[in-house]
Amino acid sequence: MKGLILSGGTGTRLRPITHTSAKQLIPIANKPVLFYAIEAVRNAGVKDIGIIIGETGKEVREALGDGKEFGVKITYIEQEAPLGLAHAVKIAKDFLGDDEFVMFLGDNIVKDGINNLVKDFKKNKPNCQILLANVENPARFGVAQLKDGKVVRLIEKPKVPPSNLALVGVYMFDKNIFEAVEKIKPSWRGELEITDAIQYLIDKGYRVEPHIIEGWWKDTGKLEDILEANRIMLEGLEPFLKGRVDKKSQIIGRVAIDEEAEIVGSVIRGPAIIGRKSKILNSYIGPFTSIYYDVLVENSEIEHSVILERVKIRNISRVEDSLIGRDVEVTKSKRKPKAYRFMLGDQSHVEVY
Ligand code: G1P
Repeated sequence: MKGLILSGGTGTRLRPITHTSAKQLIPIANKPVLFYAIEAVRNAGVKDIGIIIGETGKEVREALGDGKEFGVKITYIEQEAPLGLAHAVKIAKDFLGDDEFVMFLGDNIVKDGINNLVKDFKKNKPNCQILLANVENPARFGVAQLKDGKVVRLIEKPKVPPSNLALVGVYMFDKNIFEAVEKIKPSWRGELEITDAIQYLIDKGYRVEPHIIEGWWKDTGKLEDILEANRIMLEGLEPFLKGRVDKKSQIIGRVAIDEEAEIVGSVIRGPAIIGRKSKILNSYIGPFTSIYYDVLVENSEIEHSVILERVKIRNISRVEDSLIGRDVEVTKSKRKPKAYRFMLGDQSHVEVY
């Protein structure tokens, strides 16, 4: 069995972060989302993995290399434009050959992994196995309609969803999917939808088996989802202390402090993680906060946020519910007149009080 992990797409719902970097590389509890996907596939025993890359391919290649660090073998497959998930399958045909494969969307996190699902697929040998999860807002996803435990209809982003069962971004296929991806036509959003390809399999009488997952799953396509994923992953954090904490600081609860990080005169209340070479000076870092590498936080308070590398936050109380991109500076100045002064990228989002 092979793996196909998708790491293209444009990430429009996460702008401005995705103007400059891949949405799949946003760190959740200081680990890029995409790494969780690779580990889930690898832990299910699948070591030969194709990665679909697009515009942000260079960055993805740099992050993953040849896969050795993860104990897998990676083959990169370039998609010339984000033309859909079924298009990604189409262009991976040479890599996949006649093998069965698991396709995993690189912005999805399945907390409990996919070991049992892969096992079931291998044992029952359907032509396709899909994962479904009960969600409150099905219109954002592909949605399944079941009858007597069988899938009868799949619709991509329906205006009036026939159920609350969303398609999770993990699919298992045998080679018959290639017939389907050749036959379908682009959808209203101009993409070859995997949802339509699976509907084709159903219509042609192929066996498509649904699995409803009970565990936690998230498509990290939006800010709130990133914050929730970060919260869930930090809850399972193994605390460690590799950096330096001075005597005046207080570390409370589950906190991980990485190499060469420095905590001075500060309170860190977990679950929280402070990345390599970051400095927290006279500040408060509250629960559900992930601070990535080389960050400086001084005289400030931050809670329930994801802060990327090389950010500087000074004299700010306080930051909450935020995702702050690389190299951003947020400071309070004494300059007159008193005013908010911004230099924001396209599609930035700011809330002030
Ligand atoms: C894609 C699929 C959709 C699925 C979702 C899961 O949506 O098209 O069926 O429910 O992933 O993450 P997209 O992220 O392209 O909007």
